[in-house]
Amino acid sequence: MKNIIIFGAPGSGKGTYSDEIVARYGMGHISTGDVLRAEIKAGTELGQLAKSLIDKGQLVPDDVMVGILASVYDKQEPGRGVIFDGFPRTIPQAEALKKMLAERGHEMGNMIELVVDEETLMARLLNRAKEQGRADDNEETIKARFEVYHRQTEPLAAWFEKEGIRNVFTWKGSKDLMLSEIFAFLDKAE
Ligand code: AP5
Ligand code: MG
Repeated sequence: MKNIIIFGAPGSGKGTYSDEIVARYGMGHISTGDVLRAEIKAGTELGQLAKSLIDKGQLVPDDVMVGILASVYDKQEPGRGVIFDGFPRTIPQAEALKKMLAERGHEMGNMIELVVDEETLMARLLNRAKEQGRADDNEETIKARFEVYHRQTEPLAAWFEKEGIRNVFTWKGSKDLMLSEIFAFLDKAE
């Protein structure tokens, strides 16, 4: 399987659909949010920095994220493809990803963009707050995450468009429908 970059606003389903894609195609999964939350749990220096930013809904600096990218990628099983979930989030991160993969003779593969209205996103994240209690799932921080997404991450969609690998999937009220559209695309893309 080619690599996949799953892209979308907080709560758009990056993690949820990544799990489904992994179950179907057996690829690797790198969630930079999960990587950072593990660092927070382990109490590392990176974790302390990440916590101070994640709690405010702000991004961890590009140089820090790019610095950990290759080491996380190189731990994956070679040859089966990886889903990048939550990375890249800025144009410098995208350029760094492209370069890191090119250095290894690998391609970015396909970008899957999840488009979901903000009311649905907010409802999902507030619901997750009740179930899982993730520290950044409170109304104030969620609003900051949406704002950061619009300002720093959404412009990256045009970068993927130029690379010729952007594929948009719009929420129409059914998870099964979304999933069948994504699978139909990936079955053909393989
Ligand atoms: P990250 O962990 O990536 O969080 P996020 O982008 O805010 O996205 P979420 O994980 O909240 O949502 P998701 O799109 O994965 O949706 P999910 O499938 O969970 O990043 C967290 C923070 O880390 C950032 O704010 C930043 O500070 C830092 N960070 C991470 N990467 C970084 C980077 N590259 N550079 C700099 N900083 C970085 O779905 C949400 C909920 O909806 C779930 O509970 C799900 O069960 C539910 N749900 C209900 N119905 C559906 C449905 N139909 N489809 C999908 N999900 C549904
Ligand atoms: Mg996630």
